[in-house]
Amino acid sequence: MSNEVLVTCELHGAGARRTMVLRLNRPKQLNALNSELMDQLGAALLAADGDAAVGCIVLTGSDKAFAAGADIAAMARKTCAEAMAEPFITRNWETIRQVRKPVIAAVAGFALGGGCELAMMCDFIIAADTAKFGQPEIKIGIIPGAGGTQRLPRAVGKSKAMDMVLTARMMDAAEAERAGLVSRVVAADKLMEEVLAAAEAINVLSPASVALAKACVNKSFQGGLDDGVDYERRVFHSLFATEDQKEGMAAFLEKRKPEWRLR
Ligand code: CAA
Repeated sequence: MSNEVLVTCELHGAGARRTMVLRLNRPKQLNALNSELMDQLGAALLAADGDAAVGCIVLTGSDKAFAAGADIAAMARKTCAEAMAEPFITRNWETIRQVRKPVIAAVAGFALGGGCELAMMCDFIIAADTAKFGQPEIKIGIIPGAGGTQRLPRAVGKSKAMDMVLTARMMDAAEAERAGLVSRVVAADKLMEEVLAAAEAINVLSPASVALAKACVNKSFQGGLDDGVDYERRVFHSLFATEDQKEGMAAFLEKRKPEWRLR
């Protein structure tokens, strides 16, 4: 185990709730995702989620690569038994799903294999015009192993997902936006400015409604439509028990800014 910092943490903004930027930091390997990095990322995500001063979390990489995939050198010699016993990918790649706060992926350059999958695990993706997305695992004799075969079709539809998973071709930022994989594309030199502005727009909102809105949207991907709509309706009704709902609606009607009470 090395002492290398593979994920850096920077707090941005000045309000009551700020933005935690987590930056993948293995530049020489194009941020290839190894177990140490995923352990550090998991710990940083949970720490930010538990910090009341943090509103949103941003996950980003370098100008050249968000992440070029799981670390091929680290897994090249792994046996099936080792992968199952570890359990490889599962042990420390799913932590992000425990996070209740919004996680925005800021993607520039390559987001390939596990990098594309990690970006898709975030709540939404804002891409630089330099971004390239792909699931090229088939070229090295495997398949996507961190949810790519499940999340990509939900994001871009079956035909394009099959195309990407089977041919391994990359999708540029414009195509990714057309396909619905990313929410917006911005100039590369404006990426962090735009992402931090999006995070700030969320940071000033009621944390309860933000966390529950996120949970409801995620629910739409987890079961059938009826289950999702029922779940949404229950959560919607329960928000009428909070002071923030009263305050938010009163402020709108009184044409003033709401003062969230976190209750
Ligand atoms: N794992 C380990 N090392 C990687 C890597 C990866 N996924 N991607 C890049 N690197 C390393 C390269 O080996 C190289 O290291 P050296 O300088 O020591 O040789 C360094 O990063 C720079 O890479 P390149 O010289 O290849 O850079 P390039 O600009 O010519 O090409 C690239 C960039 C197209 C992204 C190319 O590096 C590439 O194809 N990378 C592999 C992409 C891939 O197959 N990803 C899927 C991995 S499997 C996976 O992710 C499984 C899963 O679902 C969880």
